[in-house]
Amino acid sequence: MKLKDKVAIITGAARGIGEKTAKLFAEHGAKVVVADYDEIPGRETRDEIQSEGGEACFVKVDVSDFEDAQNLIDVAQEEYGSIDILINNAGITADGFLTKMSEEDWDRVIDVNLKGTFNCSKFAAQKMMEQEDGGVIINASSVVGLHGNIGQTNYAASKFGVKGLTKTWAKELGGRGIRVNCVAPGYTNTRMMDDVPEKVLDSIRDKNSLGRLGESEEIAHAYLYLSSEEAAYVNGAILPVDGGQIL
Ligand code: NAI
Repeated sequence: MKLKDKVAIITGAARGIGEKTAKLFAEHGAKVVVADYDEIPGRETRDEIQSEGGEACFVKVDVSDFEDAQNLIDVAQEEYGSIDILINNAGITADGFLTKMSEEDWDRVIDVNLKGTFNCSKFAAQKMMEQEDGGVIINASSVVGLHGNIGQTNYAASKFGVKGLTKTWAKELGGRGIRVNCVAPGYTNTRMMDDVPEKVLDSIRDKNSLGRLGESEEIAHAYLYLSSEEAAYVNGAILPVDGGQIL
């Protein structure tokens, strides 16, 4: 029970890495706010946690929307009385070569991945500071946020940006006992990988020291470690969880 009675908001928790994280956190005693704009799978995640005896609620949110993000933090506060952990996990891709990328696809990915992280963190940090009891914020970067990648101009920019937010907030909030860290997952078996052609997946496996893609649970365990007291002296870190991926 590494998170007993901690209140954890996890964005993008309807499926993939976020879903596994929500379930793992609940197993460790957290009260979980399943936050997602996809309502049906989001409610299913909540129901599954509850049926295993865990505590969870669902909040529909588009993290790229400033007011929606504020509402998420307010509802979480009303439901559980405090906010201890925010996992900024929601993310999207809209790939294309630089010369073919539309303005709309650029804006969409930056709005969800980068602005969404800003939106939720701004309101969560305000609450954490008012509570005067510390807190944890974890941002999702990517292996692409470490090395860049062909066809991912918008995504790479957002995931490099998230590292900058992490370093900045670690400095701004550290003195208030709020730790801010970042996980940079490698290629992980989720729906995000559905559109990646098998040939590309083979080449990713070839260039991976462990010869495989990651699993959502493996990323969830990194979120868990950084959220726990075991990471009490970890702040401003960018933790790659990518099996040793070389791009
Ligand atoms: P996924 O596509 O399986 O799940 C993403 C979740 O975020 C979905 O439930 C979706 O509904 C939600 N979401 C998307 N836009 C949203 C918005 N505007 N507001 C609220 N919720 C929204 O993705 P996956 O693979 O679980 O990714 C989780 C995080 O990990 C993302 O930030 C992603 O960029 C990052 N990541 C994933 C990698 C992978 O290979 N799967 C590799 C590196 C990083």
